[in-house]
Amino acid sequence: MKLSVPVTVPVTGRAAVAVAVAVATLFTTGSIAGAAPAAEPVAAAAPDLPVAGVKAHLTQFQSIAAANGGNRAHGRAGYTASLNYVKGKLDAAGFTTTVQSFTSGGRTGYNLIADWPGGDTDQVLMAGSHLDSVSSGPGINDNGTGSAAVLEAALAVSRAGYQPTKHLRFAWWGAEELGLVGSRYYVNNLSAAGRARISGYLNFDMIGSPNPGYFVYDDDPTIEQTFKDYFAGIGVATEIETEGDGRSDHAPFKSAGVPVGGLFTGASRTKTAAQAAKWGGTSGQAFDRCYHSSCDTTSNINDTALDRNGDALAYAVWELSE
Ligand code: TRP
Ligand code: ZN
Repeated sequence: MKLSVPVTVPVTGRAAVAVAVAVATLFTTGSIAGAAPAAEPVAAAAPDLPVAGVKAHLTQFQSIAAANGGNRAHGRAGYTASLNYVKGKLDAAGFTTTVQSFTSGGRTGYNLIADWPGGDTDQVLMAGSHLDSVSSGPGINDNGTGSAAVLEAALAVSRAGYQPTKHLRFAWWGAEELGLVGSRYYVNNLSAAGRARISGYLNFDMIGSPNPGYFVYDDDPTIEQTFKDYFAGIGVATEIETEGDGRSDHAPFKSAGVPVGGLFTGASRTKTAAQAAKWGGTSGQAFDRCYHSSCDTTSNINDTALDRNGDALAYAVWELSE
């Protein structure tokens, strides 16, 4: 759902994006009476990320788990099938994809990295999510949601022909559930110069919890404010994420000095009465009662939370890469 949020210029929507990408540099004329017309670059507006597209990816992840013993876990066939599904979509959309392998627990794991050609490679904005599930279930909220929304955002970049100032890189991590293994491997294998080129890392892990909260990581202030601006624009209150700070793939980036941020709708912690009053849902119940369980299926998703977080993700990718 597209709702009005503050943008650089008072034009929004796909038409504005199309115009901004069709013209290499577009200028708007200032309207200060008596002054020479001031020219300012016009920023492309972030698209409304179609929640139907995000949900279609979740359906595929569910089918992949069903066909592969009920999970998409590290070292299992459901993981490689998930990776091949995401990679196929990205390759067809014009991304340069790289599969990075590592070993954990005696099994080979894989990270998928997708670079969008163009932009200043000395300023790389990354968005990522873990693609593995636990072995006890299909992992649709944890973390089909982040994986599907990051994929849909990458596809939206391609559809818009978006050419931001910064270079965009999307990532799907392996073996998060074994202790952030894939993301740590990626960060450890960057050179010092490679790490310094990453201007920000945005993490999305569990963004469609069935009894959702709206949690924003309070790490880098600029990234945090960007997400807060989006939610303020749609009139949704947020809280700082505190349920196990550092329990996802942003942690290795943060440890390496990369500015990080992200979104989260809650795991096993219980929603309070105050939280239910502002967000709806059920107080005294977990944000996700199916966390790390076999019932983490496509039925375990709040569509409104998934839609809002997907839109916030796209907004941040656009805003932070200009
Ligand atoms: N995959 C994470 C985990 O199993 C889920 C999680 C718990 C999380 N707390 C979090 C993700 C806080 C982001 C932020 O630990
Ligand atoms: Zn997770």
